[in-house]
Amino acid sequence: MHENEDSALYDLLVVGSANADLVIGVDRRPAPGETVLGSDLAVHPGGKGANQAVAAARLGARTALLARVGDDAHGRLLLESQQAAGVDTGGVLVGGAPTGVALITVDPSGDNSIVVSPGANARLTPQDIRAAAALFGAARVVSVQLEIPLETVAETARALAPGTRLVLNPSPPAPLPEDVLTACDPLVVNEHEARYILGILGDDTAGAAPEDWARTLLTHGPRSVVVTLGAAGALVADSRTGDCVRVPSPEVDAVDTTGAGDAFTAALAWRLGLGEELAAAAAFAVRVGAAAVTGQGAQASFPTVAEVAAL
Ligand code: RIB
Repeated sequence: MHENEDSALYDLLVVGSANADLVIGVDRRPAPGETVLGSDLAVHPGGKGANQAVAAARLGARTALLARVGDDAHGRLLLESQQAAGVDTGGVLVGGAPTGVALITVDPSGDNSIVVSPGANARLTPQDIRAAAALFGAARVVSVQLEIPLETVAETARALAPGTRLVLNPSPPAPLPEDVLTACDPLVVNEHEARYILGILGDDTAGAAPEDWARTLLTHGPRSVVVTLGAAGALVADSRTGDCVRVPSPEVDAVDTTGAGDAFTAALAWRLGLGEELAAAAAFAVRVGAAAVTGQGAQASFPTVAEVAAL
């Protein structure tokens, strides 16, 4: 819980990327050197940071976004989407490079492949973080991902006000400084990210179970770890209680998984900021993630609380 309740104007401050998602449906992905035909192109607001902010706001969280977009049509699309969801965009910086773009293919099972051109996201600097001290002082929880420079993520961890919780989804995965790892509460990883980080840390857990990944990750500093398991839900591990429990997901028909992890993390971060225990917050978040895979695109598929309850 935030040290000074009166100063917590935001349930969640998201620091991260904002991309225009250029999406094509394909029967299958091309092999190297091969060309395939796909669906008509769809352009959606996306980016892991922008997605988290919209997901939280749609659930009713008081949310602010600290990001950078270009002074261009994609940047305006992203700002409009944030504002329509009720996100405070006072911290969104404009200019310096074109808005980030994600090239996304979605296959018939709803799985996606993504290549991101960071653009303006790469120009979100540590100085931008320091200049946003007022936002950091007003947030119960800060959530960050890795589509912005690593030094900016490290500055985000240093900028936390006393009592503010940091939620980190290391996506796309990269080697994490020790002070960032130890600030996480929780570190939120999918199976790919868990294996990558454990590999970097020199732990050979390739054949092990997610429970082993989570326990090993805890030994490297995070106060808690959440492993997302797709249709199988999630696993939470907390160093304070020693608990390591699985949280099942409701069964749904997946249409497009893009952004489901972002919706999960946003919901988790919001509920943790309200004081919920990790397992309870994750139980809510898996329902949000499940709802998010039932619609096309990222932000358009994020549910309201009523839609989560109806799942
Ligand atoms: O997590 C999904 C997001 O990843 C997409 O919206 C895309 O922009 C990439 O950042």
